[in-house]
Amino acid sequence: MTTTFARVQPDLSLLLNQALQTLDYGQQPATLYDPIRYIMGLGGKRLRPLLTLLGGQLFTDELAPLVRPALATEVFHNFTLLHDDLMDQAPLRRGQPTVHERWNANVAILSGDVMLVRAYELLTENVPPALLPLVLRRFSQTAAEVCEGQQWDMNFETETSVSIAQYLDMIRLKTAVLLGFALELGAMLAGASTADADHLRQFGVDIGLAFQLRDDLLDVYGDPATFGKQVGGDILADKKTFLLLTAQAQAGPAQRAVLGQYVGVQPVPDPVAKVQAIRGVYDALDIRAQTEALINDYFQDALLHLERLAVPAARKKPLRALALQLLEREV
Ligand code: IPE
Ligand code: IPE
Ligand code: MG
Ligand code: MG
Ligand code: MG
Repeated sequence: MTTTFARVQPDLSLLLNQALQTLDYGQQPATLYDPIRYIMGLGGKRLRPLLTLLGGQLFTDELAPLVRPALATEVFHNFTLLHDDLMDQAPLRRGQPTVHERWNANVAILSGDVMLVRAYELLTENVPPALLPLVLRRFSQTAAEVCEGQQWDMNFETETSVSIAQYLDMIRLKTAVLLGFALELGAMLAGASTADADHLRQFGVDIGLAFQLRDDLLDVYGDPATFGKQVGGDILADKKTFLLLTAQAQAGPAQRAVLGQYVGVQPVPDPVAKVQAIRGVYDALDIRAQTEALINDYFQDALLHLERLAVPAARKKPLRALALQLLEREV
């Protein structure tokens, strides 16, 4: 799969991809380590380590020591994908069968677990001893928050009165804090001030909220030929996305009846009909435009944090360009 950001940041993407190929996760038993090579080999956007390097690049030109800690965020992210796909019963990831489909659920759990361990190992390489406690504390906090967000996401599947505020907090935890941490890590390792590291983290959280909203939008409207995941998976699982919650809030009587007929009925008798019916309600209410407007709001909030960084404007350009790319991503 092509990496969206290789076009914006060819040098850094190359650096990351080369470093990824040198990673040794382990050998035996092969059923533990093959799935790791499989998921890591399927590509993906490599967004999080790129954020670490771009975060570092604001403050230093010496990026080599940041590369392996940056990869920790990618290995951690891929660990969450193994478990997420099992929890979401997702058949496809990056255009290929998910690990639990290709192997089984136990393999997805245990290979994921060892990836978390490998992420910690990578994170602590090259970190100056004085910084290590802070880096470990921030990473551990972030990792626990991702789990909290994932559990809210699962809880909400069977809840009927989830608010938009609860949804936003859930996606902040499951997705946005990791983007924030990836940037903050780059700043910390490059010797940024605490104030700058914090603005960068908040920039990442806002970008992350926009990123997950876009993910939810693509789950409904993505092109099945390029998206790499099952389109309609969120609808089938009754995920309480911004799209569904907004539709529920704005539905007229006929649309309310359609939503009532399909949402919360598990197992789904006719998956194609469910996706089509709910997408029809979204279309009628122009949920797509409303989601895009909210994505844009978070992008604007993110830019405010970028502006506040005590760094020359020219140095901020790559991050702004990447954020713009994220707004329009199709995968
Ligand atoms: C998928 O993340 C999980 C979410 C947080 C939405 P990405 O969209 O970054 O997935 P890859 O790594 O590019 O495949
Ligand atoms: C996933 O959210 C967030 C994490 C993996 C922690 P989703 O469940 O929406 O991610 P995708 O769509 O499967 O990539
Ligand atoms: Mg999922
Ligand atoms: Mg999920
Ligand atoms: Mg999704």
